[in-house]
Amino acid sequence: MSNQGIKAFGPASIGNLAVGFDILGLCLDKPGDEVVIRKCNEPGVRITKITGHKGRLPYETELNTAGKAVQSMLKALDLTHQGLEIEVHKKLPLGSGMGSSAASAVAAVVGVNELLRLGLSKREILPYAIDGEEVASKSRHADNVAPSMLGGIILCTNHNTLDVHRLYVPRGLYVVVVHPDIEILTAEARAILSKEVPLAAMIQQTADLAGLILGLTTSDFGLIGRSLRDSVIEPQRSKLIPGFYEVQEAAMLGGALGCSISGAGPSMFGLFSDSTKAENAAEAMQRAWKKHKIASTIYLSGVNQEGAKVY
Ligand code: HSE
Repeated sequence: MSNQGIKAFGPASIGNLAVGFDILGLCLDKPGDEVVIRKCNEPGVRITKITGHKGRLPYETELNTAGKAVQSMLKALDLTHQGLEIEVHKKLPLGSGMGSSAASAVAAVVGVNELLRLGLSKREILPYAIDGEEVASKSRHADNVAPSMLGGIILCTNHNTLDVHRLYVPRGLYVVVVHPDIEILTAEARAILSKEVPLAAMIQQTADLAGLILGLTTSDFGLIGRSLRDSVIEPQRSKLIPGFYEVQEAAMLGGALGCSISGAGPSMFGLFSDSTKAENAAEAMQRAWKKHKIASTIYLSGVNQEGAKVY
């Protein structure tokens, strides 16, 4: 083993993808978190360094998404005698809706799989990353962890058995994520949600989820555009995001197929069939937030088909 250990990358992701609350997610090329894992003599898992978090993330293994994920992995594989040190280099903003907690957890388990030469598949180590992400979101769902791990657009039809499916992604699908300089904690954005869904909204949402999947499968950008909307969660969460409807309008006027909240927010995403339109619309979204005196950062990406990786 080299003293430098193993370095692994966990990419950002868009949870929900408007129409698939907790069950649909898309993997971005960048940004992403980096994790360095080293073996050490003392048994157990320790977080030795965290950068890019402004002192906000816990060093306690149990409370840290990367630490918890690795701990869960070692326990399940009967490897608790193993000593591991973890450095977490946060490149993703916290509380951004871009799957920050998932990215660290995913990178950590991918790194351990490589370092210990376990030879497990990404699908096999997925549950451990979910155990880690659960620490931050206080809920068990795979819509960030699964795409960050596997890449692509992923549908999870069962969170207990982790029945995850890669959807077909049409050529030329571009993604814009604009991250405003405000923070929303996932646990809080979940706490405001009503437990009831009106029947009409349920009908629309199931129709749109089916439409989106069919549109992706058949490369029908028109159908993708008619389906990429959220009748259930967005009306409740949009009030947490100042300027939400202006930013959405800017994206749609700029030619977005659809635009909604990325994960639990406050970032907003748009899907596009044309990269020039995507760039121009991203700037228009940024200008809309600027009118509210909110600075923002633009991320342009294709759909990352590879997911997490070891360098
Ligand atoms: N599906 C999750 C939510 C994503 O929207 O709350 C964030 O973990």
